Amino acid sequence: MILVTGGCGYIGSHTVVELAKAGEKELVIVDNLSNAKEEVLDRIRQIVPVRLHFYRVDIRDEEALDNVFSLNPIDTVVHFAGLKAVGESVQKPVLYYENNISGTLHLMKTMQKHGCKRMIFSSSATVYGPGNEPPYTEDMPTSATNPYGWTKVMQEQILRDAAAADPQLCVALLRYFNPIGAHESGLIGENPNGIPNNLMPYICKVAAGKLEKLHVFGNDYDTCDGTGVRDYIHVVDLAAGHVQALNYIQKHPGVLTVNLGTGRGFSVLDIVKTYEKVSGRKIPYVIDPRRPGDLPICYANADRARELLGWTAKKTLEDMCADSWRFTERNL
Ligand code: NAD
Ligand code: UFG
Repeated sequence: MILVTGGCGYIGSHTVVELAKAGEKELVIVDNLSNAKEEVLDRIRQIVPVRLHFYRVDIRDEEALDNVFSLNPIDTVVHFAGLKAVGESVQKPVLYYENNISGTLHLMKTMQKHGCKRMIFSSSATVYGPGNEPPYTEDMPTSATNPYGWTKVMQEQILRDAAAADPQLCVALLRYFNPIGAHESGLIGENPNGIPNNLMPYICKVAAGKLEKLHVFGNDYDTCDGTGVRDYIHVVDLAAGHVQALNYIQKHPGVLTVNLGTGRGFSVLDIVKTYEKVSGRKIPYVIDPRRPGDLPICYANADRARELLGWTAKKTLEDMCADSWRFTERNL
């Protein structure tokens, strides 16, 4: 059986849907609900028939986690649970190292105790740091510019070391680029509390009339229109990548490191224009100074995912914006 940590969250919930669509009839979810709501579980069940065994558990709580493994024959963990706000990680580094690193260590100890040998881990394009030139390939050196990014670099290292020590361990380090969009049903998506840090949730709140205007962070980068360029990927494509990665690691012990991106970059203003087109809403914006720590351009070389997993992103920027807008209309 598969355990999904952080399965009530944005990427986790979409991955649960894709796993169920791929034939999983029963799944275990652990989430402390620090950044999600339990109602997501009912939404998932409305999309796809699946039995979900939910435990409101913090993965740092070793005893509670041990209990989950004792009650369920878990052979695979898809590990999303973690804190992810870059700015907050600079303000609260200890919280980030504690939650993300200790959480993963506790999870691995529990897996080890129960003989669970498969782990899919949510890494990030952030591990390419500022020293590499895009498109990023998986063999580039890793680094980070903030505590959140360092937790990803460190967790990758911990998993690589664990796999080196145990030849039966099968690990996938999936480096996500910029997931946006929502399930086409409009039932699950991303709806952060408070003022969003990321571009798409911010645009959604402007479109919904909850925020007045978008602040575009810099228009003096060396890019097509001066605004930052990112590799935006539809969250459903990203979720499908997990199913493919799981199929792969079942046959290949060791560590798979793979980018999940489209291989194509779009600017902030490309996103604004496409969102306006599909939603019919105007997104007013102002140009602000650059956000400290932002790279001008970030996009994947997506060859390895295609070659090893047979996976490529299928959905277009229009799909991403239209699905984000549908979720916004129905939920915000
Ligand atoms: P999310 O916040 O929506 O999901 C994370 C989930 O984990 C939440 O439901 C939260 O309640 C839960 N959680 C956090 N700490 C926990 C703990 N100690 N114990 C149990 N549950 C805990 O975030 P997301 O966007 O779905 O991201 C999932 C993973 O992917 C994260 O590890 C994130 O760092 C990584 N990632 C996200 C992005 C992105 O842009 N969204 C990009 C790259 C990597
Ligand atoms: N941007 C704005 N205004 C906003 C928010 C963002 O102009 O209000 C711009 C940024 O400057 C950047 C682009 O929109 O050019 C994307 O910014 P996001 O904050 O949406 O995403 P990032 O690329 O900065 O970072 C995200 C996650 C990180 C993750 C990284 C790579 O927040 O955790 O993608 O996966 F590491």
